[in-house]
Amino acid sequence: MTITRRAMLGGTLGLVAGGLTGCATADASGSLISVGFAQTGAESTWRAANTASLRKALSRRNGFELMFIDSQGRQENEIAAVRSFVTRGVDVIVLAPMVEGGWRDVLEEARQAHIPVVLEDRGIDASGSSLYVSRVGDDFRHEGALAAEWVVATSDPATRIVELLGTTGSSAALERSAGFDEVIAGHGFTVLDAQDAGFTRAGGKEVMAAFLQKHGDDIQLLFAQNDDMGLGAIQAIRAAGLEPGHDIRIVTIDGTRDALVELIAGRLNHVVQCNPMLGPQVASVVRAVHSGRPVKREYIATDRVFDTRAAKEVLATWPY
Ligand code: AHR
Repeated sequence: MTITRRAMLGGTLGLVAGGLTGCATADASGSLISVGFAQTGAESTWRAANTASLRKALSRRNGFELMFIDSQGRQENEIAAVRSFVTRGVDVIVLAPMVEGGWRDVLEEARQAHIPVVLEDRGIDASGSSLYVSRVGDDFRHEGALAAEWVVATSDPATRIVELLGTTGSSAALERSAGFDEVIAGHGFTVLDAQDAGFTRAGGKEVMAAFLQKHGDDIQLLFAQNDDMGLGAIQAIRAAGLEPGHDIRIVTIDGTRDALVELIAGRLNHVVQCNPMLGPQVASVVRAVHSGRPVKREYIATDRVFDTRAAKEVLATWPY
């Protein structure tokens, strides 16, 4: 265990240290900070951008030695990845938890080994615990609420809705649903169906095709909890001889370039951003934690919404 790690664990992780910026090339002793990063997988365009952002920020050039494991959409792989980082004795573990539950044992092992854990992207169901030091991510509940605010503002109360949900048990899916449901409640909308489509394009296409078979022309609006599922649904809607964006209006979350293109083309109607470019903030938190400086419990990225006009304005320079 390094001296800096001992200092961090001995002290209280106080709240806030303002913006954690600055770009050291190594720790105080001149050596690289070793980081084990367990990523959920490569299920979506958002995920690819998130991985690229972290890889770039946690580079050797920036003073890190990164061990990256793609868990291929399986929590057991992710748990094994964290365990392997504990065995190797890395300085800091970064974890993008696939689902909220099931982390206690392995994170307790990391704690016993005095290795701080930083969550990136999704959260776990141990928010008040000392099993992790900080989370860098987005406000999923707010994203769901923003999608619903657009529905409320643009839809007749008799509108019939279907929902493509993200991975069951993930904080992204749970919180987006909570935010969406809260805002549409009491407006009279009918939710015909809501099913897990795994945050993937293939899943979105398959589940939307099943919705269309079951509900046919009754479907008037689709809420897809990420862009990829919405883009897959567009294919299913067209295959059913309907016009996405017109016969069925669509709102999605992420704000990927592909979605902005579809928004401009009129096949999507509204897109809420979920910012995947979390690497620089994660690197700052890792550096602070490693050197014993206080960090905030959460760093939440700023998200925005897109209509066609906003999409056109940013498309040429949009980073993901
Ligand atoms: O946890 C963030 C979500 O996971 C993104 O919305 C989605 O695209 C990704 O797979």
